[in-house]
Amino acid sequence: MKKIAVINQKGGVGKSTIAVNIAYELAIRGNHTLLIDLDPQAHSSELYKPKGEVQSTIKNLFSDPKFNAIRAIIPAKVHENTIKNLKVIHSTIQFARVAEQVSSRIHREKILHNHIRKLKYDYIIIDCPPNLGVITVNAIYAADLMLIPVSYDKGALDGMADLIGTIKEVKECIDDPYLIIRNLFDSRNKQTNAYVDKELYAFKENLLKAKIRKTESLNQSRITGEPIRIYDKQSNGVIDYEQLTEELQEWLNLKPEQNPANLANKIKAKKMKKELQNKV
Ligand SMILES: Nc1ncnc2c1ncn2[C@@H]1O[C@H](COP(=O)(O)OP(=O)(O)OP(=O)(O)O)[C@@H](O)[C@H]1O
Ligand SMILES: [Mg+2]
Repeated sequence: MKKIAVINQKGGVGKSTIAVNIAYELAIRGNHTLLIDLDPQAHSSELYKPKGEVQSTIKNLFSDPKFNAIRAIIPAKVHENTIKNLKVIHSTIQFARVAEQVSSRIHREKILHNHIRKLKYDYIIIDCPPNLGVITVNAIYAADLMLIPVSYDKGALDGMADLIGTIKEVKECIDDPYLIIRNLFDSRNKQTNAYVDKELYAFKENLLKAKIRKTESLNQSRITGEPIRIYDKQSNGVIDYEQLTEELQEWLNLKPEQNPANLANKIKAKKMKKELQNKV
């Protein structure tokens, strides 16, 4: 079971759009996939919501350690059609209140992990809220890989140091289990693109080759409440999400020693150790 958290404390960079669409792409490739919405805004789970009220949500998992997560898992629906291989744990605006109270609990960062570690899915996709609070920390603790969307604008990398620092602290490792996905790419904005790509050079070991173009149909599909492949299968968005999904799967199937990010960090760590030894 591979768990991917889509994370960035910056708002509006495409976390929910990515969570919705990679979950769908994985499911149609025959993978048993679970989408977990950790954001009280409920943007990603809303899209897969059946008519009527959802009985149990992420709020139940966080308010009762004994709650059986399976009770909150329901099949994904788009316009009342069930999506094969895709299940969802929904969010709700009331989760915001519960999230505020989580900070005072013991082992507060492990709540999600404890609920989902025994589930049996090929992939779990976790959509995070736009902050680095205790709920996002729960996602980092539970996930194998953090997928960080950055958008093509001047402040693209704002907060990146904090974000990566938090991942390292929670994971307690020198390896960086994160990948950056560039979103909202517009080939006409040459100067902005050059600027963002230059900034991203420092993260080249963790940068996915795939990038998601700014595509109006992606925006529209969120409005009509459909994954891009259902809304417009001819869209560039479909091509970009296919590429992203394939690259993610490849990366997750690599052995740790083949992983370029891990390799780079091992070399970095060795160098640091040597420098320290030389100082003594
Ligand atoms: N590649 C894209 N092309 C065009 N529009 C996009 C693209 N990706 C995302 N959007 C649009 O950008 C807006 C923000 O996207 P989204 O809600 O996925 O961001 P988010 O990071 O989840 O936001 P929040 O931090 O509020 O949760 C949405 O209106 C979405 O439709
Ligand atoms: Mg969102």
